[in-house]
Amino acid sequence: MTETVQRSVVAPSAAAGALVNPNAYAEAGDFLPLDGIDHIEFWVGNARQAAAYFRALWGFTPVAFAGLETGVRDRASYVMVQNGIRLVLTAPLTPDGPLADHVRLHGDGVHDIAFSVRDVATSYQETTARGAVGALPPTELDGGPDGVLRQSSVRTYGDVIHSFVDRSDYHGMFAPGYRRIRKPAAHAEGLSLIEVDHCVGNVELGEMDRFVAFYRDVFGFSQLIHYDDKVIHTEYSALMSKVMTNGNGRIKFPINEPATGRKKSQIQEFLDWYRAPGTQHVALRTEQIVETVRRLRENGAEFLGMPHEYYRELPERVGDVGVPVETLEELGIEADRDEEGYLLQIFTRPIQDRPTFFFEIIERHGSRGFGVGNFRALFEALEREQARRGNL
Ligand code: FE2
Repeated sequence: MTETVQRSVVAPSAAAGALVNPNAYAEAGDFLPLDGIDHIEFWVGNARQAAAYFRALWGFTPVAFAGLETGVRDRASYVMVQNGIRLVLTAPLTPDGPLADHVRLHGDGVHDIAFSVRDVATSYQETTARGAVGALPPTELDGGPDGVLRQSSVRTYGDVIHSFVDRSDYHGMFAPGYRRIRKPAAHAEGLSLIEVDHCVGNVELGEMDRFVAFYRDVFGFSQLIHYDDKVIHTEYSALMSKVMTNGNGRIKFPINEPATGRKKSQIQEFLDWYRAPGTQHVALRTEQIVETVRRLRENGAEFLGMPHEYYRELPERVGDVGVPVETLEELGIEADRDEEGYLLQIFTRPIQDRPTFFFEIIERHGSRGFGVGNFRALFEALEREQARRGNL
């Protein structure tokens, strides 16, 4: 199941502050094992409108619903699917309880990054024995003729949890209590998002190494890359990041913490407005980034803008990336290259009013990196936005 990275994944120019572990995948002990990301659940203020947003703008298809009409009295949930990506949008129907508290404190945000596993009981026992705090003990949800869905959950940074989900004996739409929705996808020609590439957590100053150790000790992940503040900085601010991965490489979790600089780090801005550590962004992988970003822009998506100078220097830095630099600039797509290949990526502005969660779209051509060559230009773009919000 394991694959070994033979070579550095970071460009030589960036190597000074980016330490790469060439044996990360081999070192990750897949004792659970985790088969991938089953779904990501957002807790939001208005799930019906969030579902309409993900359908009309992002091209997700609503497939299942739970709420008053299905006998659920305290919440409404919509399950949205696109290729291998499954998002669940859940909103409270009452002013009390953890869901309403979560929305009041954090605004909209990621509640659960759920893993697909073969044995939810073992996953729960092994991770709690290694130090994880339990959130839901192993539970069997009876779906009648659809079978049984097994689930358990543990906590991670902030109020985020990781559920373990076993669907092997369940044949319903998403989970017991959900009803199938028969609604076509929005018109989204050209738009293609395939799977979750990575999920980034922002934690408080001094906490990065604690969560690196958490994913290493509790989940058997290993550290793929360490970007220190010499790599990730602008004139004003800095951050540090370590990327944790599981043994089959399907799960990649960069963990960021703010570093001290002359002005406020974008990580600190997130922490201030989310009021806690949380999931900063989820990267969705595509194999047609040009068509996808073009369609997303037509649908009203807002992306971070990169300056003209970035594109003037790009051909020399990354060479041929299969897309004319004029097209990259027109759409705001960034490029980076390392020893293994190249990648194209773009970042949305925050998708809710608080300057917290955003999406990345990434197209990989050999590179397994995260776009370190773009970090400085990207963070300067983020700081321009921070300044506009009065948060720099
Ligand atoms: Fe990313």
